[in-house]
Amino acid sequence: MSGFKTVRGMRDFLPEEASLMKSIESKARDVANNYGYKELITPVVESHELLAAKAGEEVRSRMFVFKDLGGRDVALRPEFTASVARVVATTLRNEPKPFRLFSVGTIYRYDEPQRGRYREFWQSNYELMGSVRPEADVELILLTQSLINSVGLKDCAFKIGHVGILRAIFAEEKLVERTQSTVMQLMDKKLYDDAINLLKKAKVSDKCLETVKQLTGLKGTDAFGIIENIRKTVESYISAAVAVKNLFEILRLILESRSNVEIMVDAGFARGLEYYTGMIFEIYVPDLGIALGGGGRYDRLIELFGGQPTPAVGVAHGLDRIMLAMQDKKAPAEMKPCGKVVVVPASEGVAGDSLRVAKILRDAGVPVELEVMGRKMAKALEDADRRGAAFAVIIGEKELKEESVVLRNLRKREQKVVQIVRIADALSE
Ligand code: HAM
Repeated sequence: MSGFKTVRGMRDFLPEEASLMKSIESKARDVANNYGYKELITPVVESHELLAAKAGEEVRSRMFVFKDLGGRDVALRPEFTASVARVVATTLRNEPKPFRLFSVGTIYRYDEPQRGRYREFWQSNYELMGSVRPEADVELILLTQSLINSVGLKDCAFKIGHVGILRAIFAEEKLVERTQSTVMQLMDKKLYDDAINLLKKAKVSDKCLETVKQLTGLKGTDAFGIIENIRKTVESYISAAVAVKNLFEILRLILESRSNVEIMVDAGFARGLEYYTGMIFEIYVPDLGIALGGGGRYDRLIELFGGQPTPAVGVAHGLDRIMLAMQDKKAPAEMKPCGKVVVVPASEGVAGDSLRVAKILRDAGVPVELEVMGRKMAKALEDADRRGAAFAVIIGEKELKEESVVLRNLRKREQKVVQIVRIADALSE
């Protein structure tokens, strides 16, 4: 008998598991379709330089790196984001924004193998390019919730933070970027004492040490209470206050979308990847102490890769871990088929309600693209037409008072006022 077995950290998927993995992949693709993300397929092998640029020390040190037969330094992708950013910086550089890209496939990291941690694993990855607005950040959170719920996992909770807060404090303290990143990596591993010691060595002010210490203790499920405490703690750092306001806006929109998202805010939360500039998050389910997904805002990566300055926010989900959680819970999974609609807020103040209505439609199996660019109505409708949408749901303050919205048939150029509770039914009338 042959003694061959899989290489350490690599796994076979026997037919039953393979079929479960493919069904999760298919749910991830349904979610992409439902939210208007187009699939992008990129190579597993990329240049080492590209993948290493902003991956962060933790991921960088765990890459499968080798020379190809032509002597090029290459690596197996340790995530999708660098590849997507490369495409956006080059081939897609002149595409009109926003655009939404979805990828799914295998990822490689030389992690220490254990339950839920493999050297080859699957991710579904979503990137929303071109919008700086908090609606875009919220979209990635709601999309993640949709995926987790669609595979039958009903209880999930998000951990949310904002790297802009710490980065702003460190920048005001003139801390060089490399040290900033190392401190954040230590914080990511919850090595807070080591992080503080490194800050001391870098001779930051006592005020900075005190602020960082306080921030690491600020976490909890009373999201707005915690935000208020963060605001008070960083008051004297002006640019940090801007980041806190952004986090507040994101949480406010999540609340207004009425999506029942469970949230834990953590001011000392930092993710290992170096490219993040804004809100960051991870998703957890009860009884499985490892993240099923993680993401955040990264507004400078595409520019760093030579593209036009393009704000971006994204998330990747660990499909192997979702599978583990499903097997633990024996969770069933089913989802309905769909048709295409654009949801357009008529004014600045209704973004939260727009997220809410979009969710109601998606929950009813209707694919929805939300207007996240803050454009005037005529422009947004013109764009919806160009994208081939059949209907626009217009969210206006006047109609909202009656819990209604305007449903516009873009083909027939007719519109009517419809109660929000009836919106999904009204589409098929
Ligand atoms: P990440 O947090 O490094 O983010 O990975 C996302 C998810 O991949 C994790 O939450 C976890 O579920 C899964 N994962 C990571 N390592 C392993 C492993 N060794 N075995 C099994 N599953 C694993 C990223 O990759 C970013 N590119 C996400 C992103 C996209 N940020 C912006 N856009």
